[in-house]
Amino acid sequence: MSIHEIDFGQLYREHMRAAGGREKPAEKWDARAAEMKQCQPIESDYVRDFIARMDLSGCASLLDVGCGTGAIGLALAARLDKVIGLDYSRGMLKALMECASERGLANVEPIHRAWEDDWADVPVCDIVVASRSTTVMDMQDALNKLDAKARYRVYLTNMVGGRFIDDEIAGMLGRQRPALPDYIYIINLLYRMGHHPRLDYIENNNRLSGTESFDEFAQKVAFLLGPLSDDERTRLQQ
Ligand SMILES: C[S@@+](CC[C@H](N)C(=O)[O-])C[C@H]1O[C@@H](n2cnc3c(N)ncnc32)[C@H](O)[C@@H]1O
Repeated sequence: MSIHEIDFGQLYREHMRAAGGREKPAEKWDARAAEMKQCQPIESDYVRDFIARMDLSGCASLLDVGCGTGAIGLALAARLDKVIGLDYSRGMLKALMECASERGLANVEPIHRAWEDDWADVPVCDIVVASRSTTVMDMQDALNKLDAKARYRVYLTNMVGGRFIDDEIAGMLGRQRPALPDYIYIINLLYRMGHHPRLDYIENNNRLSGTESFDEFAQKVAFLLGPLSDDERTRLQQ
């Protein structure tokens, strides 16, 4: 068999299904919007590392897909004419626009849309970004959309290893799950689409780091694994 016969889009979808991946309802993200809202222009290590890898030369517009509260889009807005934040969570878009206004950025627009929706009216932008927002059920469709909306360049992040949570914690709670498909599918899909992407790695603290109380830690675990029983909370705390 040659590599050209492999349908990586189909493999990705099958892997995602087999790993039990499913779309999170937008309301789950609405609930996290307040916690993620960071209106001060203080860049995290991740945001700084992401932006350091971007080339904005010749670019005036940016589409930030799964923009959340605007970690990437807002950090770049002062260097561009226009930033469009696309997200399916109304809570995230509200936080995005509140932060834009607090930071005096008048060139930011929201689009309420899901990856899975029709993007016919989403404007083409010079740069398209999808940061920490590419856990989709159909990666081929997502990449087609990013490709269609980017005039010059696309920057996206995806996981290495396919796990949002430490396998040991999941195992201790009896909630181990198979790993989700990770970045290697994207490289192969892009190659099949005729693109030759540059690849780099950003090392990042995991999502459970930096918690200030056990309640916050348990909330983050529950966001990733589903509601915890009292017994599970006790085991987690121990
Ligand atoms: C981890 S946050 C990342 C936010 C931001 N891009 C960043 O790097 O901080 C993931 C974002 O993707 C959005 N999202 C998740 N699934 C989506 C979907 N199916 N369609 C559109 N947005 C989605 C969520 O609402 C959330 O704002």
